[in-house]
Amino acid sequence: MNIDKSKRAGNGLGSKLPNVGTTIFTVMSKLATETDAINLSQGFPGFDCSPELVSLVEHYLRKGFNQYAPMVGVPALREALARKTFDQYNVAYDPDTEITITSGATEAIFAAITAVVRPDHKAGPDEVIVFEPAYDSYVPAIELNGGVPVYVTLTPPDYAIDWQVVRNKITDRTRLILVNTPHNPTGHVWTNDDLDQLAAIVHDRDIWIVSDEVYEHILFDGREHHSLMTHPVLQERTFVIGSFGKTFHITGWKIGYCLAPKELSVEFRKIHQYLTFSTVTPMQYALADYLKEPEHYRQLPDFYQRKRDLFLDGLRGSRFTIEPTEGSFFQTVSYAAITDEPDYDLAVRLTKEIGVASIPVSVFYNQKNDYKILRFCFAKDDAILAEAAERLSKL
Ligand SMILES: Cc1ncc(COP(=O)(O)O)c(C=O)c1O
Repeated sequence: MNIDKSKRAGNGLGSKLPNVGTTIFTVMSKLATETDAINLSQGFPGFDCSPELVSLVEHYLRKGFNQYAPMVGVPALREALARKTFDQYNVAYDPDTEITITSGATEAIFAAITAVVRPDHKAGPDEVIVFEPAYDSYVPAIELNGGVPVYVTLTPPDYAIDWQVVRNKITDRTRLILVNTPHNPTGHVWTNDDLDQLAAIVHDRDIWIVSDEVYEHILFDGREHHSLMTHPVLQERTFVIGSFGKTFHITGWKIGYCLAPKELSVEFRKIHQYLTFSTVTPMQYALADYLKEPEHYRQLPDFYQRKRDLFLDGLRGSRFTIEPTEGSFFQTVSYAAITDEPDYDLAVRLTKEIGVASIPVSVFYNQKNDYKILRFCFAKDDAILAEAAERLSKL
């Protein structure tokens, strides 16, 4: 049979995300592998999780916990999360109606945005405030739901929020605000004043909030995490999103969660139900047990601060300009004193020539810019961090 290839199904498909290609994380990690470079680009730990956690999973696998978990997550894990959240933030979420276990924070972010954003709400698409630089999954999720991202640009070195700019961008169409603290890629952390400023904007409007708090346990120099749930005005309208991947060095397990008041959780669960239905079962039981010991997450600030400082000590003699990161496991540095190259070109050159892969921060912006900033992930073994810093210092 002769097949006319021009008529083959798919040729007219087009794209719902015409601007999305291969992500920078895939590009840089591939380049790092090809050139045998130290990979400080993608945000995942270079070391294993606790053997205790692995044993717990093995225990539940062998016990036969291998079928679908309940749609909203196994009760033991939701109860453990409710206890942890109350201990830590003094906020009570009902494990039955207000806590949902998801397949990673990425799924939870998508489900929350999908639950809120509509293409034709008030005679036009909903607008969503996005602080840029922004984690890469936010904007595609907004656009797939027919919403329009409205950017508030944060600039180096401190990436502080100018709340007057935020107020100026609010319109009748604003339906959602996306928050990320501690922040990827900048390591910036929100203060109580930021929470008050946001509350003053939303308190008398129909505006909801998705708060991506996946680095909630990784803060430095004695800082505290100010979760949006701790502010009553914000709590009642916020989907708080977390991830066990970042907290317990298990990014490959893809298990996250959403804490939200009942009315919000009802809508959230409708979407989650048809995105994944439920999340991997034996891991949920293992995490429920592992969460009983708070030290497992309370030791994270010291653990990562030591790594941050080790990396920064190694960079002291270099020509990079460094603002120590406040939280997350990312360090941004300015190379303005070293070269005029665009950040993407420099990131590629450093990978090939000195064998250290990083992420150019311009990729996290919608607005074209030339801030000359690179992001390094320091969730790696000490010897690797020391070697990477030594190589970078020779520039
Ligand atoms: C800010 C932020 N949100 C969400 C995620 C995704 O988390 P998960 O792996 O649990 O989907 C990441 C992962 O890098 C992240 O940095």
